Amino acid sequence: MIIQPRTRGFICLTAHPDGALQAVKNQIEYVKSKGKIKNGPKKVLVIGASTGFGLSSRIAAAFGSDAATIGVFFEKPASEGKMGTAGWYNSAAFEKEAHAAGLYAKSINGDAFSDDIKRQTIDLIKKDLGQVDLVVYSLASPRRTHPKTGVAYASVLKPIGEPFTNKTVDFHTGVVSDITISPVENEEDIANTIAVMGGEDWKFWIEDLKNAGVLADGVKTVAYSYIGPELTFPIYRNGTIGQAKNDLEKTVTVLNDLLKDLHGVSYVSVNKALVTQSSSAIPVVPLYISLLYKVMKEKGTHEGTIEQMQRLFAGRLYTENGEVPLDADGRIRIDDWEMAEDVQAEVAKYWDKVTTETLPDISDIEGYRKEFFNLFGFEIDGVDYKKDANENVKIPSIE
Ligand code: NAD
Ligand code: NA
Repeated sequence: MIIQPRTRGFICLTAHPDGALQAVKNQIEYVKSKGKIKNGPKKVLVIGASTGFGLSSRIAAAFGSDAATIGVFFEKPASEGKMGTAGWYNSAAFEKEAHAAGLYAKSINGDAFSDDIKRQTIDLIKKDLGQVDLVVYSLASPRRTHPKTGVAYASVLKPIGEPFTNKTVDFHTGVVSDITISPVENEEDIANTIAVMGGEDWKFWIEDLKNAGVLADGVKTVAYSYIGPELTFPIYRNGTIGQAKNDLEKTVTVLNDLLKDLHGVSYVSVNKALVTQSSSAIPVVPLYISLLYKVMKEKGTHEGTIEQMQRLFAGRLYTENGEVPLDADGRIRIDDWEMAEDVQAEVAKYWDKVTTETLPDISDIEGYRKEFFNLFGFEIDGVDYKKDANENVKIPSIE
């Protein structure tokens, strides 16, 4: 069938398998162009492996370090005339390319928050790899059913205390307007958001993997966080999601204790703001990203998820002298180029000036829009969208 993008707000309801394949190939080519990562990981579990930072982590490990990878994600194949999800097509493309390169790659599709998926993953590691030496935790989800209590939590994206008013953009139309977001009404909203996006599930994974004996001596685990500029603090770092990120960051201490006898270490890496399915759902942030992209592209420091993950592996987690550079709070920072003073000063200057009228000139809204469609396999250079596409793509390792 001919597949076209169909959007509802910040969601794209369709995805293009050929575009996804080309996008994955482009990421692989980038990683290869950077050369092999010395002392890189060899057996890697990626939780949240189908899109965004998780997919790029998997590609960086496989094609930068010849790693065997197991990817866990929650995606849908095509069924009855309905397209599969982008993450499904990405994962099919990844496995195809990995297998062609002689690399082990298998995937598990289901709810990573559940005990059942953890058990299936452990069984697969035992059967095929024995142990893993890196666990990447890259889930982004609006809800979580707690595996022990069955309680279903929904996260909220809200400020805490005061209402927050700032500019925001509809990236489809380019209209800039003011938005006011009311603060949480109760502590429960905060607790629910922490339950979904905080560190408990990461801890459950590492506990289960350790108890099953499938973590190698010297194992590393990394989860991803975000800080960003002051102008987004009320909705991000000081908002409900920021409380969840604080909880995730605190989990590092707990996991380091847990991993001590394995000589293992856990890290949180603070990543750059990028267009992903998750970040496009946050108000204000897409406008900030469109200004940030413009400034960083002009300075030649712009990165996408694959550039970020390649740099995380080669320049932070697996450095030649084995040292992992950390900030004063013990976190890896690959948001360093985003947070550079000159970059932030320029973004702040543009932020004051940005209106519907000035947007096309002073922002990279066009780049934002294109990257958003790229996430779903659309507008990828070199793909013939007029050609019939087969939406029934299989992920080789999934029946
Ligand atoms: P994403 O939406 O692209 O990826 C989320 C992944 O989680 C997908 O693979 C999806 O299948 C998987 N997933 C979601 N729910 C699941 C479930 N119940 N079971 C199994 N898999 C599930 O998101 P992303 O932007 O790459 O975010 C990954 C991490 O990076 C998050 O912790 C996010 O906060 C962080 N981060 C994002 C940004 C940004 O700007 N996008 C910046 C810094 C940090
Ligand atoms: Na991800």
